[in-house]
Amino acid sequence: MMTSNTLTVTDNRTNRTYTVPITDGTVRAMDFRQMRTGEEDFGLILYDPAFTNTASCRSSITYLDGERGILEYRGYPIEDLAERCTFLEVAYLLLFGELPNKAELDAWVFEITHHTMLHETTRKFMEGFRYDAHPMSMLMSSVAALSTVYPDAKEVHNPASRMLQTKRLIGKMPTIAAMSYRHNVGFPYVYPDNDLNYTENFMNMLWRMVEPKYAANPVLARALDILFILHADHEQNCSTNTMRSVGSSLADPYLAVASAAAALSGPLHGGANEEVLKMLDEIGTKENVPAYIQRVKDGHIKLMGFGHRVYKNYDPRAKIIKRTADQVFQVTGRNPKLDIALELERIALQDPYFVSRKLYPNVDFYSGIIYQAVGFKPDMFTVLFAIPRTVGWLAQWQEMLIDSEQKIARPRQIYTGQRNRKFVPVAERGAVAV
Ligand code: CMC
Repeated sequence: MMTSNTLTVTDNRTNRTYTVPITDGTVRAMDFRQMRTGEEDFGLILYDPAFTNTASCRSSITYLDGERGILEYRGYPIEDLAERCTFLEVAYLLLFGELPNKAELDAWVFEITHHTMLHETTRKFMEGFRYDAHPMSMLMSSVAALSTVYPDAKEVHNPASRMLQTKRLIGKMPTIAAMSYRHNVGFPYVYPDNDLNYTENFMNMLWRMVEPKYAANPVLARALDILFILHADHEQNCSTNTMRSVGSSLADPYLAVASAAAALSGPLHGGANEEVLKMLDEIGTKENVPAYIQRVKDGHIKLMGFGHRVYKNYDPRAKIIKRTADQVFQVTGRNPKLDIALELERIALQDPYFVSRKLYPNVDFYSGIIYQAVGFKPDMFTVLFAIPRTVGWLAQWQEMLIDSEQKIARPRQIYTGQRNRKFVPVAERGAVAV
């Protein structure tokens, strides 16, 4: 039998048959527009709330096979990158498509390190936040405020300007994140120390007190670096889709990153890591796990850190995080919450409710337990996600801007409201129950 990479559709309203090409396992939504009942008909539109089966772009950054639990950045398995690279090396890979050689890596690290300082107006701006402001809200607002400091960022079609803003953002995210934390706990801000690497410097800005030089524990700094690698990109998730969508209007990258961070903050996305810790606190002891699972199965609550839109298998990042946890606990001592998490996982993975729905631990399930052991408060967890994900957002933003097929993002709708209503002046309107 002859096979052909096409799809033939019969529109039973008109009895007409159409043949549309299939490319990369995908049909083009616009090919359906020609299917009309007559001159007045707009043509068929595809309905896909929450984009569960719609590809919005072609991308060569991150490969994800959710059925098999595979994640690759630019074709390299996440396991290899997490074991053998530094975060800034992976950032280079995501942005430029290739791993850097030694000279390229040194130059890249130097550049990022020399963009870690904040303009003093940004520091002053941050001082104005309420004393107990959530660090994620401070991070989002402060990144947006960078737009006021760098008006050149509006030149989004200028590759040199894009690269400069990219370096600034990667350099400054840890500084803003650390200042958000220091503000929240009422400590003076600490300025960057260029002698330290990316995560050591971040730890310095978070935790240096009166000592003249901060000495980061190398095991903890490396664990943080691995966690940053694991969070650096994850193809078209909610916040990346936001980055592309806001960026498609040609808004500057500070505003687009702030919008992406806003999307990340929600409990169904990056905010889940904070929710996992709250959940483990609520459960309290291992013995309470079965009753908690029952509440999940009864539909009262969700098991936070479980399930994923794309992964229908164990999230490969969660596996690496679990291993990293062991190294961290050798330094910090074991976080007792791990026992509750392991018991939750054990019971869930054999329960038909979770098995039939293919619900597995995701990246957020174990990360919070490590973060807490390292010394972070739960309200910093999503901030720790946003720092590395900034690299992914920027790589995707860059790819979107140079893609000739991309335009301003603008979905369609199915209008369900009323039409052609007769206007009634305010004095003549009756009460409307709302
Ligand atoms: N606990 C209990 N039931 C769940 C869970 C969960 N965590 N996740 C999904 N389900 C159920 C859901 O109720 C539905 O059941 P039914 O078919 O009976 O209605 C079924 O599984 C399919 O779920 P869905 O809501 O259609 O799946 P989705 O793809 O829309 O949602 C998700 C994906 C991540 C939002 C969801 O799994 C969830 O809310 N998980 C908890 C929050 C979380 O951990 N988020 C972090 C995601 S990974 C990192 C990141 O993106 O930042």
